[in-house]
Amino acid sequence: MRLGAKVRWRDIEDDARLQTAHPLLRAAVAHVAHYQIRNRGTVGGSLAHADPAAELPGVAVTCDAEIIVVGAVGARTIPAAEFFTGSLTTVLRSDELVTELRLPFWPADRRWAFREFARRQGDFALAGVALYYDEDARGRARDPHVAVIGACSRPHRLPSVETVLAGQVVDEPTLRAAAEKAGGGRSAGRSACLRHLPPRPHLDPGRARLAGGGANRERLMRIGFEINGRPAEVEVEPRTSLADCLRDQLRLTGTHIGCEHGVCGACTVIVDAAAVRSCLMLAVQAEGSSIATVEGLSRDDGLTPLQTAFKKHHALQCGFCTPGMLTTAHALLSEEPDADRIRSVLSGNLCRCTGYIPIVEAVLEARAAYRKADKP
Ligand SMILES: Cc1cc2nc3c(=O)[nH]c(=O)nc-3n(C[C@H](O)[C@H](O)[C@H](O)COP(=O)(O)OP(=O)(O)OC[C@H]3O[C@@H](n4cnc5c(N)ncnc54)[C@H](O)[C@@H]3O)c2cc1C
Ligand code: FES
Ligand code: FES
Repeated sequence: MRLGAKVRWRDIEDDARLQTAHPLLRAAVAHVAHYQIRNRGTVGGSLAHADPAAELPGVAVTCDAEIIVVGAVGARTIPAAEFFTGSLTTVLRSDELVTELRLPFWPADRRWAFREFARRQGDFALAGVALYYDEDARGRARDPHVAVIGACSRPHRLPSVETVLAGQVVDEPTLRAAAEKAGGGRSAGRSACLRHLPPRPHLDPGRARLAGGGANRERLMRIGFEINGRPAEVEVEPRTSLADCLRDQLRLTGTHIGCEHGVCGACTVIVDAAAVRSCLMLAVQAEGSSIATVEGLSRDDGLTPLQTAFKKHHALQCGFCTPGMLTTAHALLSEEPDADRIRSVLSGNLCRCTGYIPIVEAVLEARAAYRKADKP
């Protein structure tokens, strides 16, 4: 199976064919970050970023995937196990881009599991494990593959655990013996599993120029997009975030800025019908898009059904998180979510004073209005 570098998490989540074509991949991606981040994050970005706790690199290593990269002198095919060299580091050269991930064929009757432990839903995992094996005619594990994420400086297969599983019926005692190896294998596996900070990167003249600002600070780019139904043109520095552009240049200060690193959700806006974190998106990436901010949810002076429900259920107190809650819920309500889905998605928007029960109740109540295609 070939996944292009620009495939987003959302594409994987939404593609029902993957339930049989690669259920391990689909299950792992469900753990990646929050709703708004899954609407933007890509296969290529995740592989190149090489976070030790990221799910996709873990799946790639578990499955003996290949990563295709293209640079000035041509293309290379790199086994996933050789691609990741340490925490946030890979064998990518500065002129190379990831173009594709190739996952080997997945038989329909393969046994598999993906589990991870994170403090909160959407957080990077503290540790996780992916495994699969095929069964022979007598139900014994053939060719087991087991890898961990988060526990090491890069995703890492556990050969000692695979040896325990190979040729065995995978029952409780076998799993206990395998788990014992994974934990007790510390002496053998410990040096490979220590987390290391990456060494100082070699000075890259291109990056140094950017870091120094210099000429790039002065360079402005003219971009156009539609904002709340109206065309807009702005001049921005290439590194201006969409959130800053909306607030500082268009004076749309309903979009709030909290954490500025994709955790709190206060800056959520809707870009081409998908809720995104505007603090993580560059304004220039919005060129040609259609953007809705909280100011654009209502086209007249009245409140939308969603806003009315927030008022009725006392779903806001200080109001800081409210624009992000409203834009997230507005985008989510296009898919007729149930209560669990609403809770799961809104867990990516932090509210520190109201509490989530009234917020979820308000969104549940507003569902009916959206169902009637009465979408504001
Ligand atoms: C709050 C938060 C929680 C998160 N939790 C998780 C999580 O639980 N699990 C997880 O896996 N991820 C998680 N992420 C990461 C997120 O899911 C994205 O996948 C990741 O940041 C990559 O995003 P991107 O595709 O936009 O790449 P970018 O952020 O644009 O790029 C990441 C890096 O890769 C480089 N790059 C991008 N594309 C390519 C390419 N094709 N070739 C070469 N280099 C490239 C960029 O230059 C940059 O250095 C989280 C992020 C946030 C903000
Ligand atoms: S997620 Fe963007 S400001 Fe917190
Ligand atoms: S209403 Fe105050 S943070 Fe949510």
